Amino acid sequence: MHNLDQIVQAASAAFAATDDPDALEQIKAIYLGKSGRITELLKGMAKLPPDERRAAGTAINRAKDAVESALNLRREAIREMALAARLAEEALDVTLPGRGQSRGGLHPVTRTLERIEALFHSIGFEVADGPEIEADFQNFTALNTPEDHPARSMHDTFYLQNESGGVADGVLLRTHTSPIQVRYMQAHVARHSDLATMPEIRVIAPGRVYRVDSDATHSPMFHQVEGLWIGENVSFADLKGVIGDFLRRFFESDDLQVRFRPSFFPFTEPSAEIDMAFTSGALKGRWLEIAGCGMVHPNVLRHVHIDPEKYSGFAFGMGPDRLTMLRYGVNDLRLFFDGDLRFLRQFA
Ligand code: DAH
Repeated sequence: MHNLDQIVQAASAAFAATDDPDALEQIKAIYLGKSGRITELLKGMAKLPPDERRAAGTAINRAKDAVESALNLRREAIREMALAARLAEEALDVTLPGRGQSRGGLHPVTRTLERIEALFHSIGFEVADGPEIEADFQNFTALNTPEDHPARSMHDTFYLQNESGGVADGVLLRTHTSPIQVRYMQAHVARHSDLATMPEIRVIAPGRVYRVDSDATHSPMFHQVEGLWIGENVSFADLKGVIGDFLRRFFESDDLQVRFRPSFFPFTEPSAEIDMAFTSGALKGRWLEIAGCGMVHPNVLRHVHIDPEKYSGFAFGMGPDRLTMLRYGVNDLRLFFDGDLRFLRQFA
């Protein structure tokens, strides 16, 4: 029976030495298969004298049970190991931060435009729009800009080509948002046939404009916001009040000064440049030009059939790109239009 103990021990050791399920079944065959060692012993019982058979049978069957239970324990252990390995491999670390969806964000200039729109909307201005490909009439003629004005030159303006490659007659990329004044007044007059009782015009018009120009403070495409207020008693004092109030709200600061410096534009008379300076902070005391403005020239009103004897008003055109640079402390205009996400993400 010593032999049987050895067999059981050898089988248990062989089972314990593998963690591969197929190898385990092969080892099983060595002991319990058709011609396995235990099976052979059972077969050999037939040759034993009858009085030994019973005891031998009991011993061999006990050994067989022992081998089988060692096998089953090992099978179970291998299955558990495989499961543990799989769980470890597929483990989710629920404490890791999520990958997240990148949500995008608004361009800093777009933020400025939306801010300007909201602030003017709050004092009763509508927001209007106009085409970027503009007609000569709205861009220049109706704005009292004479044929020989330098703004009309090929050096300053992108004219569109016609099919044969020549300059298309009177079609260009708008050089400013002022033509939207003209379009808005034309539509307003068309809507209100009785000009004696037409309601006031109070509108701002943001948009892209184009000029043949490029350096650190000029880009061939930039933005403007046009403003126009026409009514029966609209004065330069109203212009000063509106602009000063707007700037203080835009920069969320009372620490700024605004000055109106005499200037010239064909479509306003008198005309001025609007400068502002902060009275505290890094830019303290430096005057920065932020807009052109003036009282709408009577000729402009006549072009759109509004009576300059009855109505007057002011207009302004400001540079939201410049306002964005000031608000965020950026010193090169081109950064806004290079499309470098590392720069733009800072504002999103
Ligand atoms: N259109 C002018 C420009 O592009 C800016 C401007 C000046 C607009 C005076 C106005 C204004 O409405 O009244 O330089």
